[in-house]
Amino acid sequence: MSVLSVEQVTKIYGSKVKIRAVDHLSLSVEKGEFIAVMGASGSGKSTLLNLISGILPLTSGEIRIDGKDISRLNEEEAARLRRDKLGFVFQDYNLVDTLTLGENIMLPLMFQKKDPDTMRREAHIYAKKLGIDTVFDSRTYEVSGGQAQRAAIARAIIHHPSLLLADEPTGNLDSASAQQVMRIFAALNTEEQVSSLVVTHDPRTASFCGRVVFIRDGKVFHELYREDNQLHFYDEILSVLKFLGGA
Ligand SMILES: Nc1ncnc2c1ncn2[C@@H]1O[C@H](COP(=O)(O)OP(=O)(O)OP(=O)(O)O)[C@@H](O)[C@H]1O
Ligand SMILES: [Mg+2]
Repeated sequence: MSVLSVEQVTKIYGSKVKIRAVDHLSLSVEKGEFIAVMGASGSGKSTLLNLISGILPLTSGEIRIDGKDISRLNEEEAARLRRDKLGFVFQDYNLVDTLTLGENIMLPLMFQKKDPDTMRREAHIYAKKLGIDTVFDSRTYEVSGGQAQRAAIARAIIHHPSLLLADEPTGNLDSASAQQVMRIFAALNTEEQVSSLVVTHDPRTASFCGRVVFIRDGKVFHELYREDNQLHFYDEILSVLKFLGGA
């Protein structure tokens, strides 16, 4: 069973003026896959992620997460599915500024009603793994962008979601921090079999993934699978982007 299956999904925004943001798009993600989604601005990448996370209703088609059809869930079931099965990472980190990094990392465990000691212990394990244990008790405004994003990643995976969704996770980072963050995504993918879908404009970021899905006008335009080394994959990605006119 696929972790995610998107079947012939269409999303039309607006009532008078209609914008077909996603158009009969199909895509499936198997357990442990690490996928980049690329495409020009306005091609429908964020819309696709918001449909998968159940924040936006579909116009037509079907989306299944771990085999569950998300459009058939009521509000409460959808919220539970988002909380238990999905992890999110955003471009602007979305950390809670009144909490420390460590408390931010623990947030998903609070919903699972774990006791405070267990939460702290598990949060420390992830903070160590991501190299931010030294800033565990710092506030969000006391740390660098790379550290904040690593805390956001820890928060996104601490509850072992089936699928990690990231929209431009390296968009606000300098290239060294961006590479570090992508190495972490890649390590989590190999070590913990975290399945991820990462939207990015950056071919360097995409070259860390095992597959790149290119979207144009809301449709899957092309797919590339990484076969050998990252540098060669990077070149292949660049060629497709040149063809797409997005490089
Ligand atoms: N809430 C909305 N209402 C109406 N139209 C929208 C809405 N959100 C997005 N769109 C339109 O849908 C299309 C796809 O937008 P989307 O944000 O998914 O693109 P994107 O690929 O994420 O772009 P970017 O790379 O700039 O983030 C665009 O034409 C956009 O203007
Ligand atoms: Mg977007």
